[in-house]
Amino acid sequence: MQVINGKEVAASVLTKVQQDIEALKQAGVVPGLAVVLVGEDPASKVYVGSKVRKCAELGMNSRKIALPTETTQQELLKVVAELNADSSIHGILVQSPPPPHIDEAAIVRAIDPRKDVDGFHPENVAKLVLEDPSGFVPCTPLGCMQLIKSAGVETQGAHAVVIGRSMIVGKPMASLLMAKGADATVTVAHSRTRDLAQLCRTADIIVAAVGRPEMVTADFVKDGAVVIDVGINRVEDASREKGYRIVGDVKYSEVVQKCRAITPVPGGVGPMTIAMLMANTVKACRQQALL
Ligand code: GUN
Repeated sequence: MQVINGKEVAASVLTKVQQDIEALKQAGVVPGLAVVLVGEDPASKVYVGSKVRKCAELGMNSRKIALPTETTQQELLKVVAELNADSSIHGILVQSPPPPHIDEAAIVRAIDPRKDVDGFHPENVAKLVLEDPSGFVPCTPLGCMQLIKSAGVETQGAHAVVIGRSMIVGKPMASLLMAKGADATVTVAHSRTRDLAQLCRTADIIVAAVGRPEMVTADFVKDGAVVIDVGINRVEDASREKGYRIVGDVKYSEVVQKCRAITPVPGGVGPMTIAMLMANTVKACRQQALL
């Protein structure tokens, strides 16, 4: 049984990213990422802080734009337009989820697709499905694929069950797994799927991205399966200083006994998401600088 170490794989991705940043600097351009946060969601604040910190660690420019919850759609669109026009900014990310009065899809469409390092713009969604490598792929599923590869998992002909159909993880994950080269047979399950546990027991690879704490239990997993846990859920825990702890979508203590490889939470997919964001920002910079 292999515990897939996301921190280690992320560190090796970031070593390469750092080399690329140095090369870009030699050529006279410093990659720049803008991170926009609307509102006060505590988890979002943590994620945005980590992203900005990582940019600084790698010698990249970053701009954090924190806007109040009451920010209007129009005001947010104006911020995006300014960032689109700013040649020192190569990547733009608006942290999801925004407050409910914001039309997130309209914001995503307003981002210049060349700066859409999240890969959420329709043009980049299309490029992923078309297998056009010039597009941007959402960071979390991109990181999951790297983890699967790093563990030496054979995806060709494997049955992969993706639990969750979100635009951020489930749908792009399915596209990546079925793409030429990965060649998996993919089933996408969601909240209306019948007999989910039975379906998952037919999987060689399970990717859990539902946001339900410890939903995937041992009875979902066949012996020797590979389990990628995308969940980051806060559950109450009075014994912890913060009053909560973080668990995945997978009941780790049970599933670890049955699988061939598993990603832990924390320390699995989480660190990869940030690493791939940095990689996407470098890619955006290179494309915009025509380097
Ligand atoms: N919220 C959760 N994951 C993500 C992500 O990858 N990008 C953005 N912008 N928001 C998120």
